[in-house]
Amino acid sequence: TSYKLLLLPGDGIGPEVMAEVEKVIGALDALGLARFEIERDLVGGSAIDAHGKPLTDEALARADAADAILLGAVGGPKWADVAYEIRPEAGLLRLRKDLGLFANLRPAICYPALADGSALKRELVEGLDIMIVRELTGGVYFGEPKEITTLPDGSKRAVDTQVYTTAEIERIAHVAFDLARKRSGRVASAEKHNVMKSGVLWKEVVTKVHADYSDVTLEHVLADNCAMQLVRRPKQYDVLVTDNLFGDVLSDVAAMLTGSLGMLPSASLGAVDAKGSRKALYEPVHGSAPDIAGKGYANPIAMIGSLAMCLRYSFGLGEAADLLDSAVTRTLASGARTRDIAAEGTTPISTSEMGDAIIRE
Ligand code: NAI
Ligand code: MG
Repeated sequence: TSYKLLLLPGDGIGPEVMAEVEKVIGALDALGLARFEIERDLVGGSAIDAHGKPLTDEALARADAADAILLGAVGGPKWADVAYEIRPEAGLLRLRKDLGLFANLRPAICYPALADGSALKRELVEGLDIMIVRELTGGVYFGEPKEITTLPDGSKRAVDTQVYTTAEIERIAHVAFDLARKRSGRVASAEKHNVMKSGVLWKEVVTKVHADYSDVTLEHVLADNCAMQLVRRPKQYDVLVTDNLFGDVLSDVAAMLTGSLGMLPSASLGAVDAKGSRKALYEPVHGSAPDIAGKGYANPIAMIGSLAMCLRYSFGLGEAADLLDSAVTRTLASGARTRDIAAEGTTPISTSEMGDAIIRE
């Protein structure tokens, strides 16, 4: 089978790291491990320059028709003054919203070779491998009312509303339990049922969904305690499922445990349709890094790791994904370092040399 893959390189270092993914795709094909039908389109600032908006209807239709989407990064100072509705990030937000990508998967992996770059001590993070599953389309970022009103005395009142329904919690819980089955079989669910009604419902629904997964263990943890535990003893977690707001914060905490932003991939998944497939977008956690764009400094590992997630979660090519992940681990163990992860006084390699080294491994 050949899979239809849409590449949206975007802006800044996006096209630079995507070029390395294209090389890896070529290598996978040459090895007979995976075959893709590749399409390419524009998103973000590059689409604004070409079409006057950050995502055209044609690009969206292409994304809808693809089996999976790989996105580089969007944004940069060049588009700082465009109207809010058509800023580069609006293209990415529209993709997420229109494709219904409600589940954000953010692995936090600490490679042994890089453990000294972590914010924590080596023994706390070496071999760390957490998967944070963040609900992405509900909760307080989207709930209504959402407004700032002026009170009679002239001061103001701001309102954000946290809303979750049973169905929204059920589907994200299923994503977490299904993932845990393929990993160590442990799920921790973070909420604040002690002070939030949405937390009460979250805990109740996750517990109910868990009944279908007797082979997976479930632990409930209060989100503030979870933040503390992530810094105190992060390896106690495997799959961590949580809502949009707590997931935003906890995944940034987890990111700092791993070393560099240039190493972290992510996936955003939609609902499973009648044919058993689901929409999916894979992208590095980092942005377009305008400070290093065009210099060959960018670390392509987050982007290549995003391809590995795509192989694993969209195409069921677990073996090819394992090979790619272990090639990255071995490349790092061999001492290859881009500038962001190189020790002081050592000579880093370029974006393209890192891609080549991974392909060799
Ligand atoms: P950023 O992630 O682009 O960069 C933060 C720092 O990390 C910079 O010093 C950068 O050089 C470094 N860095 C990031 N990725 C790297 C890589 N692969 N290799 C080596 N170093 C790397 O975040 P920043 O600077 O806050 O935002 C820059 C632009 O990117 C903004 O326009 C922002 O809106 C956009 N952005 C886009 C995202 C996306 O497309 N999903 C996510 C975050 C930011
Ligand atoms: Mg964040």
